[in-house]
Amino acid sequence: MQAQDMYNYKVVRQFAVMSVVWGVVGMLVGVIIAAELYWPELSMGIPWLSYGRLRPLHTNAVIFAFGGCALFATSYYVVQRTSQVRIFSDGLAAFTFWGWQAVIVLAAITLPLGYTQGKEYAELEWPIDILIAVVWISYAIVFFGTLAKRKVQHIYVANWFFGAFILTVALLHVVNSAAVPVSFWKSYSAYAGVQDAMVQWWYGHNAVGFFLTAGFLGMMYYFIPKQAGRPIYSYRLSVVPFWALIFTYMWAGPHHLHYTALPDWTQSLGMVFSLILLAPSWGGMINGIMTLSGAWHKLRTDPILKFLIVSLSFYGMSTFEGPMMSIKTVNALSHYTDWTIGHVHSGALGWVGFISFGSLYYLIPRLVGRVEMHSVRAISLHFWIATIGVVLYIAAMWIAGVMQGLMWRATYGDGTLTYSFVEGVKATYPFYAIRLAGGVLYLSGMLIMAWNVTKTMLAGRAQDAPIPGFAMAHA
Ligand code: HEM
Ligand code: HEM
Repeated sequence: MQAQDMYNYKVVRQFAVMSVVWGVVGMLVGVIIAAELYWPELSMGIPWLSYGRLRPLHTNAVIFAFGGCALFATSYYVVQRTSQVRIFSDGLAAFTFWGWQAVIVLAAITLPLGYTQGKEYAELEWPIDILIAVVWISYAIVFFGTLAKRKVQHIYVANWFFGAFILTVALLHVVNSAAVPVSFWKSYSAYAGVQDAMVQWWYGHNAVGFFLTAGFLGMMYYFIPKQAGRPIYSYRLSVVPFWALIFTYMWAGPHHLHYTALPDWTQSLGMVFSLILLAPSWGGMINGIMTLSGAWHKLRTDPILKFLIVSLSFYGMSTFEGPMMSIKTVNALSHYTDWTIGHVHSGALGWVGFISFGSLYYLIPRLVGRVEMHSVRAISLHFWIATIGVVLYIAAMWIAGVMQGLMWRATYGDGTLTYSFVEGVKATYPFYAIRLAGGVLYLSGMLIMAWNVTKTMLAGRAQDAPIPGFAMAHA
């Protein structure tokens, strides 16, 4: 059979494996920085081990390396399978793989060395930014090129979400990274003052909306129906929230800048759009969960489905919490506290992590000609350890965050502060220990996954799969 009659699984396999590898690395760095918050002396005065340098390494590794590779893998798999054609260009797809790994390695070297633009989630210096733009445009060509040559007239909804994620991230990255270089490793933002802040958080919140949400909703729309063996609950409920979600996310950025120099009306506008966001977010969640109607019993025995469905409950939780936190008076309490960190990780560990684990457990055996992972019990163990880990992490951060907010605003009758800042830090200590324990559990689950994936890959054979229509035509 010729290559054109087969799906290209090689690039999917490469990205899937690297997602697991970078997951282990990124979460390990997460555990290290969680430990540094508990034992500040842990960095031993070594600059590249310091909290300030490892924190962006953690965020970049988990979002762009772990999450990014999972998104590349699943989008390449889904767009080929639902279009019933081989990927648009094998060469360009391979370039996106090697280019993206180069970006990650460069990040892992430059961030600990202290090279940074100082913009959160957009820290990488301008030469790496240019590489990212080139890789991303190639990604868009491969993805939309594959859609353009599809053999199926209809474009399945998962591809809408992947497509929106690819286009928007290109736009966000190019606009927010505009900078004036002063040397090879140093540049200054093209924007100044409050405009810089607004562009940064327009980028930052849409990174949440498109990198951490729309792409993963693409995964949800393919892998939940597949694993549940049922069609998506409502097609209309996927299309209407799609447009509502991508329209609304664009305006929500100012909720990161409440009570700053940003004009007040802009902050209020950001708040209103954030509140509206609840509706399309829950539309997607309900659609995913209801896909299981009539097949709920499968949840009892299928740990992959458990990952996929529980991820949606965390998605629902964090997209309820986010709009609440965007209300100015609530944000006055939550901002600067660990409540934000709890919110981030209920989305990151519960939603992004779980939907990726479920999708990868579905995908990986199929990429090596097997029907199941090496050990289904190990998936179950991963699920329970990770669930306990997330709950410990986020519950500790919620309690710590609300406590910090209340301590900081407490005053005596004469207006003097009831607590000094350091008293707040001291009160937070036990919660940092609990968060560390949760992080260690979550990382242990990731290590179990790495073992299970290795065993599955070794027992299988790396091979492409035939495209059904072609197989029949040649039969
Ligand atoms: C309807 C959806 C959501 C809304 C309206 C929302 C709203 C918010 C608000 C108000 C903050 C706090 C800003 C501050 O005080 O500094 C925040 C922070 C954050 N949220 Fe959400 N959120 C939503 C969903 C999510 C999801 C699903 C994720 C992750 C997958 C997520 C990731 C984050 C991150 C990473 C931050 C921290 C940003 C930073 O300061 O570095 N959010 N969000
Ligand atoms: C073992 C798992 C993990 C641990 C122990 C961990 C730990 C941490 C710690 C200690 C921080 C710094 C908090 C602070 O500055 O107060 C942090 C920040 C962050 N982590 Fe994680 N993390 C883990 C997994 C993840 C994953 C899987 C993601 C995303 C998919 C993620 C996304 C983030 C983000 C976006 C921030 C920045 C939040 C902000 O600025 O508001 N983390 N993490």
